[in-house]
Amino acid sequence: MPFRLLLVVGARPNFMKMAPIIHELKKHPGAFEWRLVHTGQHYDAAMSEIFFEQLGIPQPDVDLGVGSGSHAQQTAAVMAAFEPQVLEWRPDLVVVVGDVNSTLACALVATKLQVAVAHVEAGLRSFDRSMPEEINRMLTDQISDLLFTTEASAEENLRREGIDRSKIHFTGNVMIDTLLTHSAEARRRGVCERLGLTARQYGVLTLHRPSNVDDPQAFERLFKAIGRIAEDLPIVFPVHPRTRPALERSASVAPLIAGKRLLLFDPLGYLDFLGLMADSAVVLTDSGGIQEETTVLGIPCLTMRETTERPVTISDGTNLLVGTDPAHILDGWQRVRQGRAAGSNSRVPPLWDGRAAERIIGVLRTYAAAAGAAGTTERRVATGT
Ligand code: UD1
Repeated sequence: MPFRLLLVVGARPNFMKMAPIIHELKKHPGAFEWRLVHTGQHYDAAMSEIFFEQLGIPQPDVDLGVGSGSHAQQTAAVMAAFEPQVLEWRPDLVVVVGDVNSTLACALVATKLQVAVAHVEAGLRSFDRSMPEEINRMLTDQISDLLFTTEASAEENLRREGIDRSKIHFTGNVMIDTLLTHSAEARRRGVCERLGLTARQYGVLTLHRPSNVDDPQAFERLFKAIGRIAEDLPIVFPVHPRTRPALERSASVAPLIAGKRLLLFDPLGYLDFLGLMADSAVVLTDSGGIQEETTVLGIPCLTMRETTERPVTISDGTNLLVGTDPAHILDGWQRVRQGRAAGSNSRVPPLWDGRAAERIIGVLRTYAAAAGAAGTTERRVATGT
């Protein structure tokens, strides 16, 4: 009997993490039976559909269609909609990725039904509990049976939180599997020329953290620095839906747009965004994953947050954690301009080599074989009662 995996995606950053796992699973047709569930946390075509198309992810078997809401509403809606899926299909293992609300919600449902959970990208910690993702990460890790990590700090964090070493597998970075698979194709699309930009003479900006965009004062402070940097080079800004209202009420943004120093776009697809980052002079962001992608691309990244859960991007990569104080952001920019930011002597972190999904499936095969031998897959019959 093949081992049954229920794969969960919900929000934009999940798609590039699940894609290589799906591609790898297809190479082992006899070993696994799998289904893909989309919770519908992200539902706009530009936030979801285009990623499925570009990354070759099959249509989800089930779309829970939960949509937006407060944290409690969204998490509860995912849980209520996901539980019948687990009861009906009775997987041996639920696979969740990343740190979004859907990740925690589905892990919690599975573990309460005594279905094992695998967490891909486990152990990252910002040590800032005001970030919703930090809560999602900590709780998901506590209830996971298999924890796949991307960098050494993650294992230390998990061990400190009492997770048994036998559950932790350092398999590398699946998001980088996706980047390496698609980077040549992304460059061929010539997005930079299409937008009338010259390679290495523009910056890219992304902003969507609640702490940066929901509070108007925090947003204005950031734009003091961003506006100053935009005097030196034009900045391309694909706008996350969450950030739209902040832009509309901001006083500092309109003149930058009018002067063509800030070029606003709707959210871009995976390939255009990757191509845009690859040819840029600098990336300014508050995202998690972009810190990793710029490290592999060798592009300087100014991270406008006080903490990062991805310290290897600083120790090994091109990331500068500049915080949200305009003076510090501008210091970071000066370092980049003078070539003093990491970059030339940066390196790609260990196991960010395009083979993380292959290693994960290797671990899953061993796990499935052990579960089969122990007869624990039988429990999928018991959990429905
Ligand atoms: C979520 C994740 C965050 C991740 C980000 C990437 C959580 C807690 N946060 O944040 O970790 O970095 O996704 O994008 O899970 N909206 C739309 N269309 C969509 C999706 C969202 O308009 O397709 C708008 C809605 O107004 C919604 C808001 O964006 O209320 C926020 O969406 P939500 O899923 O709650 O969180 P994100 O800020 O996207």
